[in-house]
Amino acid sequence: RPGAQEWVPERAEGVDALRAAAPSCRGCELWEPATQVVFSAGSPHASVALVGEQPGDQEDRRGIPFVGPAGQLLQRALEEAGLARDQVYVTNAVKHFRFTPRGNRRIHATPEAAHITACKPWLAEELRLVDPRVVVLLGATAAKALLGPAIRIGKDRGHPIERETTRGTKTFFVTTHPSAVLRTPEDARDAAYAALVDDLRAVAGLLS
Ligand code: URA
Ligand code: SF4
Repeated sequence: RPGAQEWVPERAEGVDALRAAAPSCRGCELWEPATQVVFSAGSPHASVALVGEQPGDQEDRRGIPFVGPAGQLLQRALEEAGLARDQVYVTNAVKHFRFTPRGNRRIHATPEAAHITACKPWLAEELRLVDPRVVVLLGATAAKALLGPAIRIGKDRGHPIERETTRGTKTFFVTTHPSAVLRTPEDARDAAYAALVDDLRAVAGLLS
């Protein structure tokens, strides 16, 4: 796996230039069985960037991140937390859908550390160009991609984490992944959703 670096344009002026280049990426083997690359959506000058894991089945078909069930839940949570659409930029740690075929279904497969490393040059350049005030990490894949392997959702979620970046000190904020809320047993799901909204409200609070 060569990694994405050689496909990331040098001195891109904005995320549109990255998005235009991403379909050519052969930085790891995930491009081949996938339908298409799924790059980011949202405002290129957002104050908040949200980073998920990888596109899901519907995202892979439509080429847009967070349009499936997890994306719909996330959109509702963002609205409840008072984060407007034009304040957020959404992307994923890995830009191609990784899955296991089962009959004519495609079952989500968690990306390996090597896929996250291979794809990271895209994410790093996106964050450099968007330069958000807060980077929200949705779940363990995104959190480990940007804050390292020692991060644990249980102990690290829900409070700002400051780190040095190429754009100076940045605020990161770890929370649960919307898919994890959907997978929570029914008797605890409302509480898991409320905790996600609380975290996003805390993010909104950091902006004022
Ligand atoms: N889950 C993610 O992490 N990203 C998406 O784009 C959709 C579902
Ligand atoms: Fe490139 Fe990332 Fe797709 Fe791998 S997952 S081919 S590194 S865009």
